[in-house]
Amino acid sequence: MADTLSIVDNRTGKTYELPIEHGTIRATDLRQIKTGPDDFGLMTYDPALLNTANCRSAITFIDGEKGILRYRGYPIEQLAEDSDYLETAYLVLFGELPTAAQYQTWTRDITHHTMLHENLKKFMEGFRYDAHPMGIFLSTVGALSTLYPDSKHIFDEGSRLLQTRRLIAKVPSIAAYAYRHIIGRPYNYPDNDLSFTGNFLNMLFKMTELKYQPNPVLARALDVLFILHVDHEQNCSTTTMRTIGSSHADPYVSLAGAAAALYGPLHGGANEAVLRMLAEIGSVGKVPEFIQKVKNGEGATRLMGFGHRVYKSYDPRAKVIKRIADLVFSVTGKNPLLEIALELERIALQDEYFVSRKLYPNVDFYSGLIYQAMGFPVEMFPVLFAIPRTAGWIAQWEEMLLDSEQKIARPRQVYAGASTRNYVPRDRR
Ligand code: CMC
Repeated sequence: MADTLSIVDNRTGKTYELPIEHGTIRATDLRQIKTGPDDFGLMTYDPALLNTANCRSAITFIDGEKGILRYRGYPIEQLAEDSDYLETAYLVLFGELPTAAQYQTWTRDITHHTMLHENLKKFMEGFRYDAHPMGIFLSTVGALSTLYPDSKHIFDEGSRLLQTRRLIAKVPSIAAYAYRHIIGRPYNYPDNDLSFTGNFLNMLFKMTELKYQPNPVLARALDVLFILHVDHEQNCSTTTMRTIGSSHADPYVSLAGAAAALYGPLHGGANEAVLRMLAEIGSVGKVPEFIQKVKNGEGATRLMGFGHRVYKSYDPRAKVIKRIADLVFSVTGKNPLLEIALELERIALQDEYFVSRKLYPNVDFYSGLIYQAMGFPVEMFPVLFAIPRTAGWIAQWEEMLLDSEQKIARPRQVYAGASTRNYVPRDRR
């Protein structure tokens, strides 16, 4: 059996044979299919790239039907159980788990870059008291580009590694400053004696105590949440990172664009939207009424935290999160909205509307409940998503840069506007 596709163009009667590789044909192979010499050649029309592979990638594997997620071949459940965020970030970025010595060096390197330039602090102070922290976050990440002009040397491996360390280390510091800004408290400097997430908690929550002692359960829970969010192949924000990066823009501005894409309520803003939805429902008794509203499509209401473009079964990340929620609640006390979430899930999972559309809880359904119980305001949720996703964005950006088949992203269009017409002077329209 040949790995080819035979196409008959009924407009011309000609037959074409296209190679099939990895279950795909090359869209550019279709260009030879023409009706005549003036014809541009056949294209595919694929709004939102629903069925187009935009790249080859060796980073993340997802089987949406079976609910499988692996980074560099390692199942997400194993990493969530045994690894930590910095080790997983290393794996995703460099392709292999670090040796003990590599892990030690990597941790030290990241720790030494957590400090932010004082100019950046002044920049952040300029935001209004009620600025959304995600707006502060992505603007500040973009502003890093002005502080590190050496980041323009994107084809210099050493420079890329330096920017990678800076970004992984500084995004939690920026996130913590953004949080302190919106609650009107002085910014805390990093404490390099603490772990990655322990220091993050310190920068967020330290008050007047001389040494902040992070709660180990909360620090570990945050670590697991970070592991789950490191990468998710070619989603909206990762595609944005690759697209901006394909113009050879520096990693800071590319990452600011990716964070902007993550901000939207259909992507990383969904965990924030889930909490607002649960608060709006208000009580367990009102759940059936809300489900009915979603099914009727009233006010374009969706069940936030449900459904996924790729997962057509339970999101494996949601399963892990549900487990660690109990751990967190044992320290913080139960989030009162949990009962509403559990009831929503129970009803939705047996309702024909959700079952027939294969709508299951995604990563965002329970993560917000944990973040809220830990004391984060809902506006911080997408920022908490952006911190670990930084590792995935950089890995994908670098893979794109080093891929000899990649070029500046430039999709085609089907022009559907007016044909040529002559300009009419304003007084004659
Ligand atoms: N609630 C109610 N109906 C839904 C939902 C939902 N959450 N999601 C999809 N549907 C329906 C949709 O109306 C459509 O029905 P019909 O065929 O009758 O028109 C059908 O299911 C297919 O939906 P779709 O819009 O074609 O699916 P999509 O792949 O374009 O959208 C999604 C994926 C995640 C944007 C969507 O499921 C959604 O809006 N979910 C809520 C937002 C959310 O939780 N986002 C977080 C995604 S996971 C984290 C991340 O990676 O960012």
